[in-house]
Amino acid sequence: MKPLYMVLSMLAIGITSSAAMAEGASVPSASLPNVSPANSDLVNRGAYIARAADCMACHREDYTGGTAIETPMGDIYATNITPSKRYGIGNYTEADLKNALQKGRAPNHMLYPAMPYPSYNGMTDEDISALFAYLQTVPAVDEKPEYETKLPFPFNFRFLMLGWNVLNLPANENREGLSATEQRGEYLVNNLAHCGTCHTPRNSTMGVDDSKYLAGAQLGTWHAPNITSDESSGIGSWSEQDIVTYLRTGELDQRVFAGGPMGEVVAHSTRFLEDEDLGAIASYLKAVPAIQTDDKVNVADVSSLKRPINESITHDLIAQKDYLAQAKANVDSSSPEGLYLAACGSCHGVDGYGQPDARYAPIVGLSSIRRDNPASLINVILHGVDGATNTSPIMPGFSDELDSAQIADISNYVRVNFGGLANSNVSAADVDSVISPQDQRPFLIKYAGILATLGIIAVLLIIGLIIWNMVRKKRTH
Ligand code: HEC
Ligand code: HEC
Ligand code: HEC
Repeated sequence: MKPLYMVLSMLAIGITSSAAMAEGASVPSASLPNVSPANSDLVNRGAYIARAADCMACHREDYTGGTAIETPMGDIYATNITPSKRYGIGNYTEADLKNALQKGRAPNHMLYPAMPYPSYNGMTDEDISALFAYLQTVPAVDEKPEYETKLPFPFNFRFLMLGWNVLNLPANENREGLSATEQRGEYLVNNLAHCGTCHTPRNSTMGVDDSKYLAGAQLGTWHAPNITSDESSGIGSWSEQDIVTYLRTGELDQRVFAGGPMGEVVAHSTRFLEDEDLGAIASYLKAVPAIQTDDKVNVADVSSLKRPINESITHDLIAQKDYLAQAKANVDSSSPEGLYLAACGSCHGVDGYGQPDARYAPIVGLSSIRRDNPASLINVILHGVDGATNTSPIMPGFSDELDSAQIADISNYVRVNFGGLANSNVSAADVDSVISPQDQRPFLIKYAGILATLGIIAVLLIIGLIIWNMVRKKRTH
């Protein structure tokens, strides 16, 4: 797989929404913070579309923008889309919004595809009308976001996006052969929730590579896994209910935990969706053609995984502290176990069951520690995890405190003891290659500046030749 990345590492996003993530397996739908009986049905529907399309992940919960979308061309900042006439979209007509969402055209300039208009391209007119009505009701904030987008030559010429759009703007998706529920799921996955912007790898012009649809992609230091229904590398072993529970709560016991970019998707978007819509997403994902990739997830035999030494310790912070102190006293502090206990034990516990009550993630059995490719786990240890909501705790990164050999030791310890792998051979060199990855930008993007300069020189030379030719012809006549 070519990990061409368009990074959506949406920095820690301050959100104003109050509801903490729903816990547990029984999953009531969360109520939308922006829905009110005082508003018209159209406006409330728009609020729901905004959630389903996850506008807040980038434009923030108050729509003032400012989140950086990291791309291989540089950071692109989401703008203010409150109804402010000066700094927001207060002067937009509904047709303007439709153009911005479907074609990437703001009234006065072309947008960069960091705004996911290639996905919103298929958004229905009814949904855009609802969104437009809703966005009028959001409080106007007369402020510019703190940062503005400044991409290097030639990407600073926004009109170039016209060419990009010709290459990459998808025509409407083919929904033939899908059941009505799957069609709804397809619309949610592709057009509103834009799952593919993260889960599908990019081609040489940074468009999505349809031949690897949802088969997993690198996002800077995170990896968005294969979510096709392949059994070994995708989510083929998940039931539809598993997918619904995960999108509602961000976790599945002893299997996955959404802490990174996916945690933000859950926090800002999917946890608010109606059961029927989450069900539609799940049934569509089951219908997507399975693609096998080489990043296999090792099957954990749940019965062989470590059990918590004692349930009450897991839920009693003081008992947990004593238990950790005892465990530390009994091992060599430079052994892999000693390193784990010292660096990770205080949050994830001696047995890896964490502190569920404080939302320190239980890590036993997680897919992120069972993958053939240890890069995701190494990245988590190096860079930590920004809490997905302002109430979730943060995991610090250890790139300054631990050396590559120590991180490799901890990774192996975690993979074998909590992931149930028979063995794990992460080496210091593997950690080094995650610390300084090769430049994986596509050729066209990496050398765009030089190529564009050469192109301009070539055009000037050709014009020069033509003029010279004309002048010469005149002379000879
Ligand atoms: C993945 C991040 C992301 C998501 C999700 C997103 N946007 Fe954007 N949006 C951006 C970025 C970045 C820009 C600025 C692009 C640029 O500078 O070319 C932008 C620009 C815009 C603009 C143009 C504003 C102007 O300058 O005139 C509008 C309108 C807009 N977004 C509306 C929305 C709406 C409505 C949604 C949800 C349906 C949404 N966006 C979802 C990232 C996002
Ligand atoms: C902003 C990028 C982004 C978007 C948008 C996104 N995901 Fe994810 N997803 C990720 C990342 C990164 C992970 C890895 C775990 C994490 O971030 O905590 C992930 C993990 C997952 C997993 C767990 C897979 C496993 O084997 O562990 C599933 C299932 C999933 N996403 C489904 C979806 C669906 C369905 C959508 C659309 C509704 C979606 N994602 C949208 C980035 C994204
Ligand atoms: C200060 C507390 C703290 C420490 C110390 C800590 N973590 Fe974490 N870790 C967390 C939190 C909190 C999360 C979940 C973040 C969230 O909810 O967004 C997490 C998440 C994780 C995940 C799940 C990520 C995923 O997406 O699957 C793994 C794996 C992990 N930690 C491993 C480790 C290892 C290994 C160490 C030691 C090197 C460590 N952690 C040290 C708090 C901590």
